[in-house]
Formats: sequence, structure tokens, C-alpha cells
Amino acid sequence: MSAANSRFLITGSMGCIGAWAMRNLLDEGAHIIATDVDTVVSRPRLLLSDEEIDSIDWQKLDVTDAQAVNAMVAEHNPTHIIHLAGLQIPFCKADPSMGAMVNVVGTVNVFEAARHNKVRGLSYASSVGALGAADNYPNRPLTEADLPLPNNLYGVYKTANENTAKVYWQDWQVGSIGLRPYTVFGVCRDQGMTADIAKACLAVAADKPFHIRFDGPITVQHANDVARIFIDSALAEHQGADVFNLRNDVIEVAEFVASLKQLFPEAQITFEQNNPLPFPADFDDAGIQAALGRVAHTPLKQAIQSDVEQFKALLDAGKLSTDSLNA
Ligand SMILES: NC(=O)c1ccc[n+]([C@@H]2O[C@H](COP(=O)([O-])OP(=O)(O)OC[C@H]3O[C@@H](n4cnc5c(N)ncnc54)[C@H](O)[C@@H]3O)[C@@H](O)[C@H]2O)c1
Repeated sequence: MSAANSRFLITGSMGCIGAWAMRNLLDEGAHIIATDVDTVVSRPRLLLSDEEIDSIDWQKLDVTDAQAVNAMVAEHNPTHIIHLAGLQIPFCKADPSMGAMVNVVGTVNVFEAARHNKVRGLSYASSVGALGAADNYPNRPLTEADLPLPNNLYGVYKTANENTAKVYWQDWQVGSIGLRPYTVFGVCRDQGMTADIAKACLAVAADKPFHIRFDGPITVQHANDVARIFIDSALAEHQGADVFNLRNDVIEVAEFVASLKQLFPEAQITFEQNNPLPFPADFDDAGIQAALGRVAHTPLKQAIQSDVEQFKALLDAGKLSTDSLNA
């Protein structure tokens, strides 16, 4: 099925990846049911025109409410679901019970609704956080055969979701693809430690200094590519319950900063020395390549160039502030 003939329900649509997913789906003429517990349309406004915002079917939905999730899917009859709603690492640590409600129970609720309403394709967000500390893994590109060893609650919850998906396939043939993004960057990426990569591009656009809080090797994926991979994974209508690592670009933070400075010599970007992120950094993405046939991947320098230009245009238009640089 093509996106043009499909009805996509997105959970967590006010988030970064959700906004980019809607950008892609609108370009392809899909019908969008945009759900989120938050009703303030701020991130999507950075990517969509007012007319495009008006063309979307916005629905308030808290994924922790099983009845509401099922009723939403039953009423709007989506052909495909992209499940992105979730709380990130610091929020799960601050409120573990709420973290489990949103990330684990919320995911069960989405799978239940897909099961009872015969949704054709489902993709959902896991995370590199499911894998845990880099020290526990061999020094080579990791495959999906390298098992999750999560070391924080967010990772534990994401691992639970991956196993939930497997049981929904085994018991009820609800097919799904789970994806494990790492450092997602681009316009709309504004919170969490790894958002520093996106914030560095914003700082260059605003002609401000910015210090990235980590160094070492990272895997970076542009938000537009990640959104595309979520859409393609749902459209694949996968017969199984696989979870895939993402790769795109594996680089040192120093290399990222060097590329920024090459493209924008006036960039005032520095980074913390000897403070690598605690996750494995190198992934083999043969699994997702085989499942989709083609994995969206914007060349890194092209992505940096267009991000800085996009941030500049948004700043000039008064649609974006630099407040997130101090968060
Ligand atoms: N951005 C990354 O670098 C990254 C990396 C790995 C995994 N992920 C995962 O991808 C998914 C999307 O990431 P993002 O960057 O767009 O996240 P985000 O934090 O920008 O957006 C998450 C959205 O979920 C919504 N939400 C929170 N609680 C909810 C609830 N109870 N019901 C409905 N909606 C709720 C929030 O309002 C928000 O709009 C998340 O599950 C995240 O864990 C993201």
C-alpha cells in the first residue's frame, strides 16, 4: 500500500520525530490522525504551514488510557500506526511509575488497539537505550543478535516493549517493526542530552557559542531520515515482530564539529573532552536494510548545511527562539 492511500495514526505527534513524520506524510498525500497528550502544536509548526496544520486531524490522546486508545483507533480506522509517544531517560528516572505507565503500558495499549482493529502496519520507537552500557559489548558494529542489557529504567521499558511486540506476533499475529534510534538531530530536536548535536546547528544559525556536553563516537541520524524509516517500516506491513538497529552515520563528535566549522567557519562550537556517551556507538544496519530494501540516509554534510539554513530561516521569521540552548 502506498502512503497516498493510507490513513496514518501517530502517537506522540507533537514530538520531534512525529513532526517530521507528518512533514513526509503530507508530502505524499496520506490522511493523518495526529494524537498526543499535549495539545499545543509547537514543534510541528516549525515544519508545516498553517494550511497544512489545518489539514491534519488533531486528537488529544493519552496512551496510558487503554479504553481511549482503543476507541481512537476504532473510530478513526487507521491503516497504519506509528507509535512514538514516550518519556525520555530523565523523565523515567524522575518518575519511574509514570515512565512505566507511558512507555510500557502505553505500548501495550497501542498493540491491543492494533490487534482488535485490524491495523495493517505498525512501527514503534524502541531506542539504543535498550542496549545499555558500551562496556558490555564487543568493539565491532553490533547486530540485533547482540542482546539488550539495559542499565536504566528507560532502557528496561524499551526492552519490555520489544518483548511485548514479539508476544503480540506469536499469540495474535500483530506484525510490527521496532526501531532503535540513537542521536536524532534536526529542527524540532530540543530536549535530552543527545539533542546537543541539533542545538549546535541552531547555535551556528544564531551566531552564538555552544558547548556539546560529550565527545567520542556517536551514531547520528537526521530526524527526517528517522521519520521516513518509521513510515516505511509501518508501510512494510511486516509479518513478524522484528526490532532493528539504525546506523546512518557513525562519527566522532570532533568530526561532527569539524564538518560544521568547514561549512560555517564562523561556528563557535566546542565539546567536552573525555566524556563519551554511555552507549555502544557502532551498529550494523543490515537488518533494516533487508527489511525495507532502502533506508533513508541524507549525507551528513548536506544534512548539517540544510539544518543550519532551516534554523536561520525560522529565527529570521521569529518562529523559533534560542532558549533551548540554555536548557
Ligand atoms: N530523539 C531521539 O534521539 C530518540 C532516540 C531514541 C529513541 N527515541 C524514541 O522515539 C520516540 C519519539 O522521540 P521524539 O524525539 O520525537 O520524542 P519527544 O520527546 O520529542 O516526543 C514525545 C512525545 O510523546 C508525547 N507523550 C508523552 N506522554 C504521552 C502520553 N501519556 N500519551 C501520549 N503522548 C505522550 C509528548 O507530549 C511528546 O510530544 C520516543 O519514544 C523516544 O523514546 C528518540
